[in-house]
Amino acid sequence: VLVKSKEMIDKAFKNGYAIGAFNAENMEMAEAIVEAAEEMNAPVIVQTTSGTLNTTPPEMFYHMVKAAADKVSVPVVMHLDHGDDFERVARCLRTGYTSVMIDASKKPFEENVAITKEVVKMAHSMGIPVEAELGIVGGKEDGNNAETVAFTDPEEAEKFVKATNVDFLAIGIGNSHGFYKAEPKLQYDVLEAVKAKTGDVPLVLHGTSGIPDEDVAKAVAMGIAKVNYATELRAVFTNAIKSYLSEDEKVVDPKKYNSAAKQAVKELVKQKIQVLGSDGKA
Ligand code: 13P
Ligand code: ZN
Ligand code: NA
Repeated sequence: VLVKSKEMIDKAFKNGYAIGAFNAENMEMAEAIVEAAEEMNAPVIVQTTSGTLNTTPPEMFYHMVKAAADKVSVPVVMHLDHGDDFERVARCLRTGYTSVMIDASKKPFEENVAITKEVVKMAHSMGIPVEAELGIVGGKEDGNNAETVAFTDPEEAEKFVKATNVDFLAIGIGNSHGFYKAEPKLQYDVLEAVKAKTGDVPLVLHGTSGIPDEDVAKAVAMGIAKVNYATELRAVFTNAIKSYLSEDEKVVDPKKYNSAAKQAVKELVKQKIQVLGSDGKA
């Protein structure tokens, strides 16, 4: 069943587990995520980045996810990940998305506040929760090649949540999009300091692909209540297709290799749900 994200994430935050937010690139990935959640009896978030929506419009994704969510009993959220501007967010809201993110984290602090505030005003008027970001998550997401990782400043985080009235805050604690070039080192002291200043605003971890499961679990225990996975899902999907094609070079029916890829994504999502402790929480 399709729901809004606020109650789901607040409940996870209060109870020390996290909701998995999984990026879908196509119908099979969206179905895999929803079916995995149903099998684990877990609340779940399906999300699409702005880059993904440049390839497949939000109307298409919304209706696929809505149809998949209608078939299951667990709560499913349709979330805009890394919304790049006001217009993008507005279109997703009109389409029926039940949660949105505005990412103005590359802009100076005051500009980030101003843009986020505008988006919060619009989304809240429609009853939809908003995630925003403070501090830079490194790596490449939708063409952002920022190599620098700027840790979130706890004082700024306090000002930011008060000024914007944002529902969830994505933070930079050494996390980076994509697979890591060097071993990832999460700064738990930064997480702890930010958490102390942001009160009851649930925190979000981006760039989770490549972070060891135990490190993710530790961050969750410390106040991360939404955890984003994209690259690992893309990798298992693509690798399953590659291996199918290498074993059956004559295949012409996309249903065959797509369902193998869907199965691989489903297994990974089920495993990550266990890492986050959201299994059995629907
Ligand atoms: P990864 O690709 O590193 O899993 O990051 C996912 C993410 O943060 C999506 O917003
Ligand atoms: Zn991200
Ligand atoms: Na990553």
